[in-house]
Amino acid sequence: MKIINSVSDMQAFSKKEKLHGKKIGFVPTMGFLHKGHLSLVEEARSQNEIVVVSIFVNPTQFGEGEDFDIYPKNFHRDKELLEEMGVDVIFYPTVDEMYPRSYNTYVDVYKVTEKLCGASRPGHFKGVTTVVAKLFNCVLPDNAYFGLKDAQQVVVISKMVRDLHFPVTIVPCPIVREADGLALSSRNVNLKKDQREHATVLYQSLKKAEEMVENGCLDAEKIKKSIADKIKTYPQAEIDYVEIVNFDTLEDIQVLKGKNLIALAVKIGKVRLIDNIIVEV
Ligand code: PAJ
Repeated sequence: MKIINSVSDMQAFSKKEKLHGKKIGFVPTMGFLHKGHLSLVEEARSQNEIVVVSIFVNPTQFGEGEDFDIYPKNFHRDKELLEEMGVDVIFYPTVDEMYPRSYNTYVDVYKVTEKLCGASRPGHFKGVTTVVAKLFNCVLPDNAYFGLKDAQQVVVISKMVRDLHFPVTIVPCPIVREADGLALSSRNVNLKKDQREHATVLYQSLKKAEEMVENGCLDAEKIKKSIADKIKTYPQAEIDYVEIVNFDTLEDIQVLKGKNLIALAVKIGKVRLIDNIIVEV
């Protein structure tokens, strides 16, 4: 397994492999890897001759007062995990390599970035689309793997790829959860023991919503209220949003129809957690 730190070395590696007709699968991450990330790597490994994983905590997608400085890191462990999984390259650039002084170009997707996490984290998706566009230009992937844990990110990146004609196929991958239902996240380590136990309320509220739909309730307001009521049973949980939107357009839905994204963001203490389910009717 190679570790590549420079943009030009990464591009040179990928160009050479492509010249030999190899397909490149790419998994962008911010490191501190868990089984959620590794499920994307496994999917990439099964579909491509070459697998590249990037580890880069991207400063431009963190707002002021967010957790950029305390974002967990463990490169040594990440490297071991990726080596075990037969990854070919870790792309591990520094912030200066990606954003040299006088850096001045940003990619901004409109509309689908205005809702959900985009509304509570202004500028976040501009940072995500900018860095993902840059990473695509470094790694030159055929296929890129993204988790549905960040469902809005999948929608936003897919839109960017279509609008800017990136020759990359986006492969959405299912959410990996702990045994008790909590979606795996690098941020879960920042939950205190009792907060971690109660964090299961998020998934329970979504499962309850799914059951309501299965039992014939299509009224978005009623479903959102049921989710909020369930979350409020844990007093330390502070709801940022509970939304039901069309999965492709992220437009609000009053009566469930087609592919619906039920998404929520909740702060438990200092930790902001997101989760969602997609319900088809
Ligand atoms: P990060 O939070 O490290 O996540 C990297 C990828 O892993 C994302 O596609 C995310 O959706 C996926 N992932 C995280 N938890 C998951 C889970 N429990 N199940 C399935 N997939 C999961 O997302 C980012 O980094 C950044 O925004 C990035 C795209 C790298 C740009 O900086």
